Amino acid sequence: MPEDHFGEEIAARYDDPSDDMFQAAAIAPVVDFLAALAGDGAALELGIGTGRIALPLAQRGVEVHGIELSSAMVARLRAKPGGHDIPVAMGDFATARAEGTFSLAYLVFNTINNLTTQDAQVACFANAATHLEPGGHFVIEVGVPQLRRLPPGETVRAFTLTPTHLGFDEFDVANQSLVSHHHELIDGAWRVLSIPFRYVWPSELDLMARMARMTLVERWSSWDREPFTHESTSHISVWRKQ
Ligand SMILES: C[S@@+](CC[C@H](N)C(=O)[O-])C[C@H]1O[C@@H](n2cnc3c(N)ncnc32)[C@H](O)[C@@H]1O
Repeated sequence: MPEDHFGEEIAARYDDPSDDMFQAAAIAPVVDFLAALAGDGAALELGIGTGRIALPLAQRGVEVHGIELSSAMVARLRAKPGGHDIPVAMGDFATARAEGTFSLAYLVFNTINNLTTQDAQVACFANAATHLEPGGHFVIEVGVPQLRRLPPGETVRAFTLTPTHLGFDEFDVANQSLVSHHHELIDGAWRVLSIPFRYVWPSELDLMARMARMTLVERWSSWDREPFTHESTSHISVWRKQ
């Protein structure tokens, strides 16, 4: 089982209303996009977390299920209105099985990168495909690797520098991996958190999808369907199961 990086301390601070990703304006287009793809079928969120997306999607009338590693995150989901109505299979979304079949599986907020090996990411695509009905869709939201911002010979890049949060990505280019180091001032004390990731390009994801008998049907730079270009820093990709 992979290491759980979303334990009690992180889960307690995860839902941050001041963070852009938790604003209604950021969540509404995600829900619109996913609800349209789910249609009359059920949706499965891999790494459902505290229900940031799952709960508003369920409120839209979609039957939502989840797979999740962290019991602390699921406890936050359960504490919210409607949180008890969402079935969650506890385990690794690369391998765990949720009951039922789905018209949509989705994995948002860079969470594919939490799988730190190529094997695990390939297994995740296979697992998503296993849950999908023929013609069902798999959606991933993830950043484009920011290697163009890393000068030759350098391994560290700051991604945030505020008086209360210093964040650095430490790259291991030979192994296509990075560690995000967060130094945060919380209640007057500096806390350090380091989380490992495997960054991955769109083309490699397309190959993983092909191995799972899925085909790319859409790729955008935003949930509002803005074009994906050579300058895009993230993408929303949609593959369809044969
Ligand atoms: C960045 S959070 C995203 C949560 C939620 N999807 C959202 O958009 O707010 C990543 C979530 O994925 C979960 N997670 C990470 N790796 C996992 C794995 N291998 N299997 C299941 N859950 C995992 C974490 O515990 C956490 O809840």
